[in-house]
Amino acid sequence: MKNEITNNQKRIFSGIQPTGNLHLGNYLGAIKNWVNLQRDIPSIFSIVDLHAITVPQDPMKLRDSIHEVTAAIIASGVDVKKSILFNQSSVKEHTELAWIFNCVCRIGWLNRMTQFKEKAGKNREKATVGLYSYPVLMAADILLYKATHVPVGEDQKQHIELARDIASAFNSMFTKENEEDFFSLPEPQILGTATRVMSLRDGTKKMSKSDASDASRINLTDTKEQISNKIKKAKTDPNPLPETMDELKSRPEALNLLNIYAALSSQTISITLEQFSGKGFSHFKPLLIELAVETLSPISSEMRVLLKDTKEIDKILKIGEEKAKNIAEPVLKKVKNLVGFIN
Ligand code: AMP
Ligand code: TRP
Repeated sequence: MKNEITNNQKRIFSGIQPTGNLHLGNYLGAIKNWVNLQRDIPSIFSIVDLHAITVPQDPMKLRDSIHEVTAAIIASGVDVKKSILFNQSSVKEHTELAWIFNCVCRIGWLNRMTQFKEKAGKNREKATVGLYSYPVLMAADILLYKATHVPVGEDQKQHIELARDIASAFNSMFTKENEEDFFSLPEPQILGTATRVMSLRDGTKKMSKSDASDASRINLTDTKEQISNKIKKAKTDPNPLPETMDELKSRPEALNLLNIYAALSSQTISITLEQFSGKGFSHFKPLLIELAVETLSPISSEMRVLLKDTKEIDKILKIGEEKAKNIAEPVLKKVKNLVGFIN
C-alpha cells in the first residue's frame, strides 16, 4: 500500500480569472477554501489572465480586473507572505508547457469538455482556438508546479480530470525506464457545502460573472444595501422550509439559499435545515442577509483600501512572480529535456 503523503509533500495550486466582478460563488467555491488550506499546505495561487483572453477583453478593463481580483484574494485572507500569489502571464513557462501538452492531449479528450460546449454555444465555429484548448493551459498551470491538490468549484472537476489524463500520457510517453513517473496525478479538492452556488434569480443556473443580470449574483464589492436588496429579491417559493433533504432537493432556490447559509456559517446543510425547517423565508432571509453582510463587508472594505495603492499590488505580484519562477523554471527545463529539446 502507498504511504499517505504529508502536508509538506503536498502542494496546492489554484487560479481565478480576472474577468468582471468576483462573486459569492468564487468566494465560497474557491477562495474561502484557499484561505483554509494555505495554513497547512504550501500553496500557489494565480490570477489567470491568459485564460481571461480566451474570450474578448477590453485591455483597460483587463488591467483593472487583475488589480481587483488580486485585492479580493488578499482581502479574503490569502497570506502573501506564506503563499505565492502571482499573475499568470508574467511566468512564460505556462505557455511553453501548454504547447508541449497540446502535443500530448488528444482532440477527442477536448471534445468531451462540457464547459467549452456551454461557453461556445451555437457559435462554435466562431469560438477561439484558445477557448477550445484552455483546459490544456490549465493542465500546464497545475503541473508546472507539480501541484498535488487543486481546490476548485464543482464546474472545474472535468478540467482536472483532463490534467490527470495529460499527466499520465506524458509519463507514459516520456518517463525513462527505471525512473519514477515525472508527474504525479493532481487531485481535485471540491470542499464545503457551496461547491456550486446558483443564481439568485434562477436556482437551476450557476451564479456567474457573465450573467447579464447583476441581481443574479452577490459581488464581493457590493455594499450592505446591495447585498440586502439582492437577497430580499432572491427568487423563492411560497412554502415554508421543509423537514427533509429529499424535499429540499426538489426546491432549487430554497436549496441554494440554505447552502449559502451553511457555507457562510461553516456548518453542514443538514444542521442548517434542522435550524430552519418549518420557518418561512420572511424569517430566514433577514438572518441570511445578516450573515452575508457580516462576512463580505470586511472583505469589500479591505479591497477598497488595497485598491487605493495599485503600485503596492504590483509589488506583491512581482514578489509572487519571482517565487513562482523559481519552481517553474527547473520543472520546464526537465520537461524540455525529456521531450528531446536541446537546452
Ligand atoms: P472563474 O470565475 O471561472 O475564474 O472561477 C474561479 C473559481 O471559482 C473556480 O474554482 C470555480 O470553480 C469557482 N466558481 C465559479 N463560479 C462558482 C459558483 N457559482 N459556485 C461555486 N464555485 C464557483
Ligand atoms: N479554469 C479555471 C476557472 O475558470 C481557472 C483556472 C485556470 C484554474 N488555471 C487553473 C483553476 C489551475 C485551478 C487550477 O475557474
